[in-house]
Formats: sequence, C-alpha cells, structure tokens
Amino acid sequence: MNFKIRKSFLTTVICLFMFASASADVTGELIQEYKAKGASTASSERGKKLWNKDVNGRSCTTCHTMSVKNEGKHKKTGKLIKPMAPSVNPERLTKKRKVKKWLLRNCKWTFKRECNAQEKSDILLWLSQQ
Ligand code: HEC
Repeated sequence: MNFKIRKSFLTTVICLFMFASASADVTGELIQEYKAKGASTASSERGKKLWNKDVNGRSCTTCHTMSVKNEGKHKKTGKLIKPMAPSVNPERLTKKRKVKKWLLRNCKWTFKRECNAQEKSDILLWLSQQ
C-alpha cells in the first residue's frame, strides 16, 4: 500500500469508528447527561423494579406488556407498539431525541410526574440490556 492509500484507508476507519460510537451508544451518552444532572451510577436492578412498579394500576408494562421482547399495545388507542428490547428490535434506544421525548411522556402518564435523572438512568441501563 502506498502512503496515500494508507492515509485514506485510515481516515475511513476513523470516520466509521466515530460514526459508530456517535450513533450506537445513546444509552451511554444519556447516562452521562443524567450524571451531570446529579444521578449516581445507574443500576439495572433498580431500573427493572421501576419498569414494573405499579402506581394506581399503571406501569410501564401497561402498554409495553410484561415482556419487553413482546409487541406492546397502547392502553388507550390500541395501537401496536414494537418490542422495546434492543435485542429483538435494534431500532430501540438509537435516537436520543426519541428516547427523551417518550421517557418524559410515559413517566408523566404512568407515574403522574416526570422521572428524575436517576430513574431515567436506571431504566435506560436495564432496557439497553434486554
Ligand atoms: C400509555 C402507553 C404507554 C405506557 C404506559 C408507557 N409507554 Fe413507552 N411508549 C409508548 C409509545 C406509544 C411509544 C412510541 C411508539 C414506539 O416507539 O413504538 C413508547 C416509546 C417508549 C420509548 C422510546 C424507545 C425508543 O428508543 O424507541 C421509551 C424509552 C419508553 N417508551 C419508555 C417507557 C417507560 C420508562 C414507561 C414507564 C414509565 C413507559 N414507556 C410506559 C407507550 C407507552
């Protein structure tokens, strides 16, 4: 390989690497953001508990069902919701804006309040491992 080719090859590899790390680890980035807002280390155990926590007959499982690997159904509209587990649905947790938007909305619907930075970290960590 001459020098020029080697250089462009290296540039490509570096770009691919940057692209992959920028787009793939939305969970990691958000957990860092929540840390900056006061959350301590995320715990998937706490995340799982919160996901299943029942508040006046509502929980995250109300629409997403008992298994995040299954298709869910919106409690009110009846609309189907694709599985939440990234292992089954690789599109999950890949768009920061989408994750933030729905965490806000769904915590409000389910718990009648916003989730705090710690809760969001915990839930995201657990979800990302499913
Ligand atoms: C009233 C029904 C409902 C409940 C209850 C609900 N969700 Fe959702 N959730 C949705 C819908 C609808 C979407 C968006 C449609 C889609 O992405 O398939 C969504 C999407 C999401 C996403 C976006 C994931 C991604 O990257 O695509 C996250 C994160 C999420 N919900 C978390 C939660 C958490 C945490 C709870 C419990 C606090 C919860 N949801 C409870 C209906 C619900």
